[in-house]
Amino acid sequence: MDNSSDTRPIGIFDSGVGGLTVLQELLVKFPNESFIYLGDTARVPYGTKSPATVERYTIQVAEFLLRQGVKGLVVACNTASALGLKALRDHSSVPVLGVIEPGCLAAAGLLQEDDASQTGGGMLASHRIGVIGTHATISSGAYAWHLGRLAPGCRVTSVACPLFVPVVEEGWTSYPSAALLIRESLQAFIDHPVDFLILGCTHYPILKPRIAAVLGPATTLVDSAKAVALSLNKLLGLVIVPSPTRNFVRYYVTDSASRFREVAVRFLPQLAMDSVEVVDL
Ligand code: DGL
Repeated sequence: MDNSSDTRPIGIFDSGVGGLTVLQELLVKFPNESFIYLGDTARVPYGTKSPATVERYTIQVAEFLLRQGVKGLVVACNTASALGLKALRDHSSVPVLGVIEPGCLAAAGLLQEDDASQTGGGMLASHRIGVIGTHATISSGAYAWHLGRLAPGCRVTSVACPLFVPVVEEGWTSYPSAALLIRESLQAFIDHPVDFLILGCTHYPILKPRIAAVLGPATTLVDSAKAVALSLNKLLGLVIVPSPTRNFVRYYVTDSASRFREVAVRFLPQLAMDSVEVVDL
Protein backbone atom coordinates (compact mmCIF):
# COMPACT_ATOMS: atom_id res chain seq x y z
CA MET A 1 0.00 0.00 0.00
CA ASP A 2 1.52 3.36 -1.06
CA ASN A 3 -0.25 6.33 0.48
CA SER A 4 2.48 8.88 -0.23
CA SER A 5 0.07 11.23 -2.00
CA ASP A 6 -2.20 11.48 1.06
CA THR A 7 -0.94 14.66 2.70
CA ARG A 8 -3.57 14.78 5.44
CA PRO A 9 -2.08 15.01 8.96
CA ILE A 10 -2.06 12.22 11.54
CA GLY A 11 -3.91 12.97 14.78
CA ILE A 12 -2.28 11.98 18.07
CA PHE A 13 -3.48 12.57 21.60
CA ASP A 14 -2.92 12.09 25.30
CA SER A 15 -4.26 13.57 28.52
CA GLY A 16 -1.21 15.86 28.70
CA VAL A 17 2.47 15.94 27.73
CA GLY A 18 3.01 12.14 27.93
CA GLY A 19 1.98 11.44 24.35
CA LEU A 20 4.83 13.65 23.18
CA THR A 21 7.15 10.69 23.95
CA VAL A 22 5.33 8.84 21.16
CA LEU A 23 5.16 11.88 18.86
CA GLN A 24 8.93 12.36 19.25
CA GLU A 25 9.48 8.89 17.80
CA LEU A 26 6.97 9.46 14.99
CA LEU A 27 8.63 12.77 14.01
CA VAL A 28 11.94 10.97 13.58
CA LYS A 29 10.49 7.96 11.81
CA PHE A 30 8.15 9.86 9.44
CA PRO A 31 9.86 13.12 8.47
CA ASN A 32 7.43 13.74 5.61
CA GLU A 33 4.22 13.41 7.62
CA SER A 34 2.27 16.23 9.29
CA PHE A 35 0.86 15.80 12.78
CA ILE A 36 -1.78 17.37 14.99
CA TYR A 37 -1.21 16.72 18.70
CA LEU A 38 -3.83 17.29 21.35
CA GLY A 39 -3.10 17.25 25.10
CA ASP A 40 -6.29 17.24 27.16
CA THR A 41 -4.57 19.27 29.87
CA ALA A 42 -7.79 20.61 31.41
CA ARG A 43 -8.75 17.06 32.41
CA VAL A 44 -5.38 15.38 33.12
CA PRO A 45 -4.96 12.87 34.78
CA TYR A 46 -7.16 10.31 33.04
CA GLY A 47 -5.71 7.49 35.16
CA THR A 48 -7.82 8.25 38.23
CA LYS A 49 -11.10 8.54 36.33
CA SER A 50 -13.80 5.88 35.83
CA PRO A 51 -13.88 3.75 32.64
CA ALA A 52 -17.03 5.54 31.41
CA THR A 53 -15.43 8.97 31.86
CA VAL A 54 -12.20 7.97 30.09
CA GLU A 55 -14.22 6.53 27.20
CA ARG A 56 -16.22 9.76 26.91
CA TYR A 57 -13.07 11.93 26.95
CA THR A 58 -11.44 9.67 24.35
CA ILE A 59 -14.34 10.09 21.94
CA GLN A 60 -14.53 13.86 22.49
CA VAL A 61 -10.81 14.37 21.81
CA ALA A 62 -10.93 12.09 18.76
CA GLU A 63 -13.94 13.95 17.38
CA PHE A 64 -11.98 17.21 17.54
CA LEU A 65 -9.08 15.62 15.63
CA LEU A 66 -11.42 14.05 13.08
CA ARG A 67 -12.90 17.51 12.42
CA GLN A 68 -9.34 18.64 11.54
CA GLY A 69 -9.34 16.11 8.70
CA VAL A 70 -6.78 13.60 10.00
CA LYS A 71 -6.09 10.39 8.08
CA GLY A 72 -5.41 8.27 11.18
CA LEU A 73 -5.54 8.49 14.96
CA VAL A 74 -2.83 7.48 17.42
CA VAL A 75 -4.09 7.09 20.97
CA ALA A 76 -0.79 7.95 22.68
CA CYS A 77 -2.28 7.30 26.09
CA ASN A 78 -2.38 3.87 27.72
CA THR A 79 -5.38 4.77 29.86
CA ALA A 80 -7.45 5.84 26.84
CA SER A 81 -6.14 2.81 24.90
CA ALA A 82 -7.19 0.46 27.73
CA LEU A 83 -10.64 1.96 28.22
CA GLY A 84 -11.64 3.85 25.09
CA LEU A 85 -10.09 2.08 22.12
CA LYS A 86 -12.96 -0.25 21.33
CA ALA A 87 -15.58 2.51 21.39
CA LEU A 88 -13.31 4.77 19.38
CA ARG A 89 -12.72 2.15 16.68
CA ASP A 90 -16.50 1.74 16.34
CA HIS A 91 -16.87 5.52 16.10
CA SER A 92 -13.95 6.56 13.89
CA SER A 93 -14.01 6.99 10.14
CA VAL A 94 -10.19 6.59 9.96
CA PRO A 95 -7.82 3.85 11.26
CA VAL A 96 -7.05 3.99 14.99
CA LEU A 97 -3.91 2.77 16.76
CA GLY A 98 -3.52 2.35 20.54
CA VAL A 99 -0.26 1.92 22.44
CA ILE A 100 -0.87 -1.22 24.52
CA GLU A 101 -0.71 -3.91 21.87
CA PRO A 102 2.45 -2.49 20.19
CA GLY A 103 4.07 -2.24 23.65
CA CYS A 104 3.25 -5.88 24.43
CA LEU A 105 4.53 -6.94 20.98
CA ALA A 106 7.79 -5.11 21.72
CA ALA A 107 8.12 -6.89 25.07
CA ALA A 108 7.34 -10.28 23.52
CA GLY A 109 9.93 -9.62 20.78
CA LEU A 110 12.57 -8.80 23.37
CA LEU A 111 11.70 -11.95 25.28
CA GLN A 112 12.26 -14.03 22.18
CA GLU A 113 15.59 -12.32 21.43
CA ASP A 114 16.60 -12.90 25.01
CA ASP A 115 15.63 -16.55 24.80
CA ALA A 116 17.50 -17.03 21.55
CA SER A 117 20.67 -15.53 22.96
CA GLN A 118 20.53 -17.44 26.22
CA THR A 119 18.88 -20.78 25.66
CA GLY A 120 17.87 -21.26 22.04
CA GLY A 121 14.21 -20.54 22.82
CA GLY A 122 11.32 -22.11 24.68
CA MET A 123 12.05 -20.63 28.09
CA LEU A 124 9.36 -17.95 28.17
CA ALA A 125 7.96 -19.34 31.41
CA SER A 126 11.15 -18.37 33.21
CA HIS A 127 10.65 -14.69 32.45
CA ARG A 128 9.22 -12.21 34.88
CA ILE A 129 7.55 -9.17 33.36
CA GLY A 130 6.56 -6.11 35.34
CA VAL A 131 3.99 -3.60 34.12
CA ILE A 132 3.54 -0.13 35.57
CA GLY A 133 0.74 2.24 34.62
CA THR A 134 -2.07 4.39 35.94
CA HIS A 135 -4.72 2.94 38.28
CA ALA A 136 -7.19 2.80 35.39
CA THR A 137 -4.78 1.01 33.02
CA ILE A 138 -3.66 -1.55 35.60
CA SER A 139 -7.17 -2.34 36.83
CA SER A 140 -8.42 -2.73 33.24
CA GLY A 141 -6.24 -5.86 32.96
CA ALA A 142 -5.41 -4.91 29.34
CA TYR A 143 -1.68 -5.60 29.65
CA ALA A 144 -2.13 -8.90 31.47
CA TRP A 145 -4.58 -9.97 28.73
CA HIS A 146 -2.29 -9.10 25.79
CA LEU A 147 0.81 -10.56 27.47
CA GLY A 148 -1.09 -13.75 28.30
CA ARG A 149 -1.74 -14.10 24.57
CA LEU A 150 1.66 -12.99 23.22
CA ALA A 151 3.99 -14.38 25.87
CA PRO A 152 2.16 -17.30 27.44
CA GLY A 153 3.72 -18.69 30.58
CA CYS A 154 5.40 -15.46 31.65
CA ARG A 155 4.88 -14.28 35.18
CA VAL A 156 3.35 -10.80 35.05
CA THR A 157 3.33 -8.42 38.02
CA SER A 158 1.36 -5.18 37.56
CA VAL A 159 1.71 -2.15 39.81
CA ALA A 160 -0.06 1.22 39.55
CA CYS A 161 2.23 4.25 39.91
CA PRO A 162 -0.34 7.07 39.93
CA LEU A 163 2.01 9.76 41.24
CA PHE A 164 4.41 9.60 38.30
CA VAL A 165 2.02 11.55 36.02
CA PRO A 166 1.79 14.66 38.26
CA VAL A 167 5.58 14.60 38.72
CA VAL A 168 6.00 14.79 34.92
CA GLU A 169 3.18 17.31 34.37
CA GLU A 170 4.69 19.56 37.07
CA GLY A 171 8.18 19.25 35.54
CA TRP A 172 9.56 17.80 38.82
CA THR A 173 11.44 14.95 37.12
CA SER A 174 14.92 15.86 38.37
CA TYR A 175 13.96 16.75 41.95
CA PRO A 176 15.35 14.52 44.75
CA SER A 177 11.76 14.02 45.94
CA ALA A 178 10.91 12.47 42.55
CA ALA A 179 13.73 9.92 42.97
CA LEU A 180 12.37 9.04 46.40
CA LEU A 181 8.83 8.67 45.08
CA ILE A 182 10.02 6.44 42.23
CA ARG A 183 11.90 4.19 44.66
CA GLU A 184 8.88 3.81 46.95
CA SER A 185 6.48 3.18 44.05
CA LEU A 186 8.76 0.50 42.58
CA GLN A 187 9.47 -1.28 45.88
CA ALA A 188 7.73 -4.45 44.62
CA PHE A 189 10.29 -4.70 41.79
CA ILE A 190 13.21 -3.98 44.12
CA ASP A 191 12.06 -6.81 46.44
CA HIS A 192 11.27 -9.16 43.55
CA PRO A 193 13.24 -8.07 40.44
CA VAL A 194 11.76 -8.59 36.97
CA ASP A 195 13.58 -9.18 33.66
CA PHE A 196 11.48 -6.61 31.77
CA LEU A 197 9.50 -3.66 33.01
CA ILE A 198 6.90 -2.25 30.59
CA LEU A 199 6.39 1.49 30.99
CA GLY A 200 2.61 1.29 30.53
CA CYS A 201 1.98 5.03 30.56
CA THR A 202 3.32 7.41 27.95
CA HIS A 203 4.39 9.87 30.66
CA TYR A 204 6.81 7.34 32.19
CA PRO A 205 9.58 7.31 29.51
CA ILE A 206 10.35 10.87 30.67
CA LEU A 207 11.36 9.26 34.00
CA LYS A 208 13.31 6.44 32.32
CA PRO A 209 16.80 7.37 33.60
CA ARG A 210 15.41 7.66 37.15
CA ILE A 211 13.59 4.32 36.92
CA ALA A 212 16.68 2.64 35.45
CA ALA A 213 18.81 4.02 38.30
CA VAL A 214 16.45 2.47 40.86
CA LEU A 215 16.09 -0.97 39.20
CA GLY A 216 19.62 -1.41 37.85
CA PRO A 217 20.87 -3.08 34.67
CA ALA A 218 19.25 -6.50 35.31
CA THR A 219 15.83 -5.06 34.39
CA THR A 220 15.26 -3.98 30.77
CA LEU A 221 12.81 -1.08 30.43
CA VAL A 222 10.34 -1.36 27.55
CA ASP A 223 8.53 1.68 26.19
CA SER A 224 6.07 1.42 23.36
CA ALA A 225 7.02 4.47 21.24
CA LYS A 226 9.21 2.64 18.69
CA ALA A 227 6.72 -0.22 18.41
CA VAL A 228 3.90 2.29 17.82
CA ALA A 229 5.87 3.80 14.93
CA LEU A 230 6.24 0.35 13.35
CA SER A 231 2.56 -0.47 13.76
CA LEU A 232 1.52 2.92 12.37
CA ASN A 233 3.61 2.29 9.31
CA LYS A 234 1.73 -0.95 8.71
CA LEU A 235 -1.68 0.55 9.46
CA LEU A 236 -1.42 3.61 7.22
CA GLY A 237 1.06 2.39 4.62
CA LEU A 238 3.31 5.40 5.20
CA VAL A 239 6.21 5.91 2.85
CA ILE A 240 9.43 6.93 4.54
CA VAL A 241 11.41 9.39 2.45
CA PRO A 242 14.95 10.43 3.39
CA SER A 243 14.52 14.21 3.00
CA PRO A 244 12.28 16.05 5.46
CA THR A 245 9.35 17.64 3.62
CA ARG A 246 6.95 17.87 6.53
CA ASN A 247 4.19 20.44 6.16
CA PHE A 248 3.41 21.11 9.79
CA VAL A 249 3.10 19.96 13.40
CA ARG A 250 0.26 21.66 15.25
CA TYR A 251 -0.34 21.44 19.00
CA TYR A 252 -3.63 21.91 20.81
CA VAL A 253 -4.34 21.81 24.53
CA THR A 254 -7.56 22.20 26.50
CA ASP A 255 -5.97 24.50 29.10
CA SER A 256 -3.05 26.93 29.46
CA ALA A 257 -0.80 26.81 26.39
CA SER A 258 2.09 28.49 28.23
CA ARG A 259 2.12 25.86 30.99
CA PHE A 260 2.13 23.04 28.44
CA ARG A 261 4.89 24.67 26.43
CA GLU A 262 7.05 25.26 29.50
CA VAL A 263 7.05 21.56 30.50
CA ALA A 264 6.96 20.05 27.01
CA VAL A 265 9.82 22.02 25.54
CA ARG A 266 12.23 20.44 28.03
CA PHE A 267 12.02 17.09 26.31
CA LEU A 268 10.75 18.10 22.85
CA PRO A 269 12.89 21.20 22.08
CA GLN A 270 11.56 21.62 18.51
CA LEU A 271 8.14 22.42 20.01
CA ALA A 272 9.50 25.92 20.70
CA MET A 273 9.16 26.58 16.96
CA ASP A 274 5.49 25.58 16.67
CA SER A 275 2.22 27.11 17.79
CA VAL A 276 0.23 25.78 20.76
CA GLU A 277 -3.43 26.72 20.72
CA VAL A 278 -6.10 26.29 23.40
CA VAL A 279 -9.36 24.63 22.29
CA ASP A 280 -12.68 23.96 23.94
CA LEU A 281 -13.79 20.43 23.15
N1 DGL B 1 -0.12 9.29 29.56
C1 DGL B 1 -1.30 8.63 29.89
C2 DGL B 1 -1.20 7.12 29.89
O1 DGL B 1 -0.47 6.62 29.13
C3 DGL B 1 -2.24 9.25 30.83
C4 DGL B 1 -1.88 9.42 32.23
C5 DGL B 1 -3.01 10.08 32.97
O2 DGL B 1 -3.58 11.01 32.44
O3 DGL B 1 -3.30 9.63 34.07
O4 DGL B 1 -1.87 6.43 30.59
